[in-house]
Amino acid sequence: MPEFIIESNGAVERWTINGEARRNALSRAMVAELEQHLDRVGDSFPAVRAVVLTGAGDKAFCAGADLKERATMSEADVRGFLESLRETFQTIEKSHTVFIAAVNGAAFGGGTELALSCDLRVVAPGAEMGLTEVKLGIIPGGGGTQRLPRLIGKGPAKDLILSGRRVGAEEALRLGLANRIGGADEAMKLAQAIVENAPIAVYAAKHAIDEGLHLEMGEALMLEQRAYELVLKTEDRLEGLKAFAEKRPPVYKGR
Ligand code: COA
Repeated sequence: MPEFIIESNGAVERWTINGEARRNALSRAMVAELEQHLDRVGDSFPAVRAVVLTGAGDKAFCAGADLKERATMSEADVRGFLESLRETFQTIEKSHTVFIAAVNGAAFGGGTELALSCDLRVVAPGAEMGLTEVKLGIIPGGGGTQRLPRLIGKGPAKDLILSGRRVGAEEALRLGLANRIGGADEAMKLAQAIVENAPIAVYAAKHAIDEGLHLEMGEALMLEQRAYELVLKTEDRLEGLKAFAEKRPPVYKGR
């Protein structure tokens, strides 16, 4: 049985974690297959420009690490798994494709970390999120201690990580953990709006935001300038100007 159900809708794909019985937990097989799909969309850019990532069923987006599999793993196995998880999440983060997590149910531990590695999070009204690892005697190991404070600030991140508490959609929105409240359809609409824009411009903006956050302002502005250089040379920039003058929607080619 495949670990993901892939549905293609032009430039948008929907990837559904196909593990409802284990609440879409992150197993080794699932992470390996995720890596293959990431390679595929990476190679196909700009054909696939947005991916909506969600979980099967209505109970969970992803219940974190597969705790049954984890119980069979040695210390070395856990270390190796975390390494591959970090790499996979970084591949999502650095991808030219925009990733939107449609958090359709529980997202705990690695499930929230997976959502954090995505560019945007659309959280269903009944869903809950949380970095609950300390309750299990561990800490977030898929980038959670680093991505959550960068996203919502150090104080709120410590509140969530040190208590291990779960937050509902409303609180996630208030904290900035969720971008919007809504179901997968809302996430698909957002993806559609993004892929109508010039592909290289979208990627250059994503890259400038993500990379610039780690830099001092002067260097960050130089990074923005370099990202602008990427779009300055594109046919799509000229098409944007032409379409504006001709009062018609632009037809972007990702060139
Ligand atoms: N790993 C492996 N299996 C998991 C799992 C996980 N992280 N989370 C749930 N499951 C399995 C359960 O063991 C159960 O399997 P079973 O039918 O063989 O007993 C099945 O999924 C359904 O779980 P259940 O708890 O009955 O479903 P629910 O819909 O009532 O609750 C959750 C879903 C996600 C809220 C709940 O399962 C949960 O809290 N899971 C643990 C999440 C967690 O602590 N993750 C952090 C990891 S660091």
